[in-house]
Amino acid sequence: MISRSAFRAAFASVYVAMSMFKSKPKPKSMLSQTRQYSSCLAILALVIMSSSACHSSHSNDDTGSSSDQQKISQLLESPESLDYTHIKTFVLEKYCSSCHNEKDRKDNINVMNYDALVKGGVTRSIAVPYNANASLIYQSLILPTGRRHMPPLDQPQLQKYQIELVRAWVDNGAKEKSDMVTPTPLKLSEELRVYFENPESIDYSVVQEYVFKNNCTKCHSEHSEQAETEVLANSANLTNYKTIFNRFNPVVVKGVEEESKIFKAVAIRQSMPPVKEGYELLDGNLIKLLRLWILNCAIEDLEVIKEDRLEYDPNSPEKVRLCEGQ
Ligand code: HEC
Ligand code: HEC
Repeated sequence: MISRSAFRAAFASVYVAMSMFKSKPKPKSMLSQTRQYSSCLAILALVIMSSSACHSSHSNDDTGSSSDQQKISQLLESPESLDYTHIKTFVLEKYCSSCHNEKDRKDNINVMNYDALVKGGVTRSIAVPYNANASLIYQSLILPTGRRHMPPLDQPQLQKYQIELVRAWVDNGAKEKSDMVTPTPLKLSEELRVYFENPESIDYSVVQEYVFKNNCTKCHSEHSEQAETEVLANSANLTNYKTIFNRFNPVVVKGVEEESKIFKAVAIRQSMPPVKEGYELLDGNLIKLLRLWILNCAIEDLEVIKEDRLEYDPNSPEKVRLCEGQ
């Protein structure tokens, strides 16, 4: 590692070399041209050295000390034994907990609680076991810029090896304790198969869990930090079943997907989630789930509605519920 004094020395030599040029403004002979050329190379080399010196001296700040780096590279040698305590000690407490704690839950995220992090609280889960790429905790670290990059750009940033630690922890199951086994998540299509085979059994809680919680309520719910009253009032309040069917601006029309604002927004216009802001459109399986829920009258609670009349839809092979008033 190049020290700060080496950086200063490098800077000083660049300065000296530059002032040499100034004192000899018009070198004419071949020899002096070659000299000029080699000084240029020297300067270039010094600039490169000094910029890397600058970079590595930066990595040696209080939050990412070199002893941490050693411990982390040891841990990364057996990534299957990583557990939540490691992530908490080396990353979360240092870089995240000032904003995402029990009390001050920025963006509704509390990283200091394992269950909230992995299983999700009122809103979404941040770490998906065995899938770092699909986990907001990892995505937010590797996003190059923008509001969703974490920690916010005006805060101390993580080093590569710390990001690698987070990735390795999630990809090895995002375990709470190293001897614990987190079940491998099923593929979404497998997980939802039971609903696709019995679409009339999809009720609000299913849609809330799979669709709204992880993809929408960050912006469209009263629980959310992000919720701008305007969005709630004028577009879509997805806080709960009642707000979805509020009488001023219902965003779902039971039984008719193409007239339901939320379906139009995610599937037809594809304006939601807002791709322009770096969000991803919904997975096709989730759109299908939403559609089947609406088609089956967007019921609130299967337990309450069990007796309902079901028929086969002539236009599709699915069994559908006849909605009231149709
Ligand atoms: C200085 C306060 C602050 C710190 C420190 C901070 N965050 Fe955030 N975090 C926020 C704010 C504010 C938002 C909401 C950003 C937005 O969408 O505008 C946010 C949002 C998020 C999100 C959701 C992003 C999304 O795509 O919806 C995640 C995940 C997150 N933070 C994780 C972290 C992690 C992990 C750390 C530590 C490595 C961290 N944050 C450090 C303030 C902070
Ligand atoms: C990052 C914040 C954010 C997320 C995430 C988000 N929305 Fe939106 N949504 C907005 C904003 C802001 C508006 C109002 C401005 C506009 O229409 O673009 C809006 C408008 C809407 C509207 C009314 C306008 C229209 O297009 O009909 C619907 C319906 C909607 N969103 C549904 C959803 C659904 C469903 C999801 C989840 C699958 C979702 N949104 C995810 C921010 C968000």
